[in-house]
Amino acid sequence: MSEFPTRRMRRLRRGGVRDLVEETTVTSDDLVAPLFVDATADEPREIHSMPDVYRYPVDGTVVRAGELRDLGVPAVILFGVPEEKNEQGTRAWADDGVVQRATRRVKDSVDDLLVITDLCMCEYTDHGHCGVLDDEGNVDNDATLAYLRNIAVSQAEAGADIVAPSGMMDGAVGAIRESLDSHGYDGVGILSYSVKYASGFYGPFRDAADSAPSFGHRRGYQMNPANARIASEEARLDVQEGADALMVKPALPYLDVLRRVREQNDLPVFAYNVSGEYAMIRAADEKGWLDAEETALESLTCIKRAGADAVITYFADDLARRL
Ligand code: PBG
Repeated sequence: MSEFPTRRMRRLRRGGVRDLVEETTVTSDDLVAPLFVDATADEPREIHSMPDVYRYPVDGTVVRAGELRDLGVPAVILFGVPEEKNEQGTRAWADDGVVQRATRRVKDSVDDLLVITDLCMCEYTDHGHCGVLDDEGNVDNDATLAYLRNIAVSQAEAGADIVAPSGMMDGAVGAIRESLDSHGYDGVGILSYSVKYASGFYGPFRDAADSAPSFGHRRGYQMNPANARIASEEARLDVQEGADALMVKPALPYLDVLRRVREQNDLPVFAYNVSGEYAMIRAADEKGWLDAEETALESLTCIKRAGADAVITYFADDLARRL
């Protein structure tokens, strides 16, 4: 008679026991849905590298936001595709800019939905970089801060609940906080893309927002994927400058960084499950190589397990329907 094994871990995976002892649960309350608002579109246009993700005109954005709220998604993050791009990205802070118009309309028409606005210049500049350029064609950090201040105020004026600077400019959070406060928007929060890597996983997004840099790359401001320790310093500076919440982006290839930021900070931590992470799963599913429903939920569970309080994900609609 063998006494081995006496510890049988499988007992914890039987029937109802498995659910009872589950450590991490994804709910629709954790999800933020990205929405692309397109000033040049008069009907929803599907993004070819992101099945079921669309660029919406302002009207369509309002309808879509309402559907997401009805599904139980508590927040959207808006990205703009402007009618015109130029060197200074002037449409980024226009009172009638596409994100400003959409924000006003969504806040007017959809109850209890948080509107987060992505705060960056790359969708608005003709060169596609996340700031204004100096004479040598490099992004001028400090000159860009003045633009970010204006964009933040115009988004707050339109009714944004939270602004989300995503350009990785040094000092952005402090500059934006100061600008919002001095214009009477001390209630508007800052969700900082504190730890944003220079990643190939943004490919489909750049299709969607038509925001690929026309020359060069973003490695001069976005982080080096090889580094994790520097992430701590990026997060620390943002906390010090007044961020309300931190973000790690992308999510799946950077779960170690997410865990690190979670453990070192007590502010909420968001993760951005980016366009490439979505596209990979959907493409493999189309080929019949894996199941998108299963792997999407598994991905989100792992991102939460690693430490995310909330996740920005293109799977928000699909997950909210199922959870
Ligand atoms: C803008 C921005 C990007 C993403 C979010 N905000 C693109 C970039 O930095 O090139 C990517 C999101 C995604 O891939 O889903 N700075």
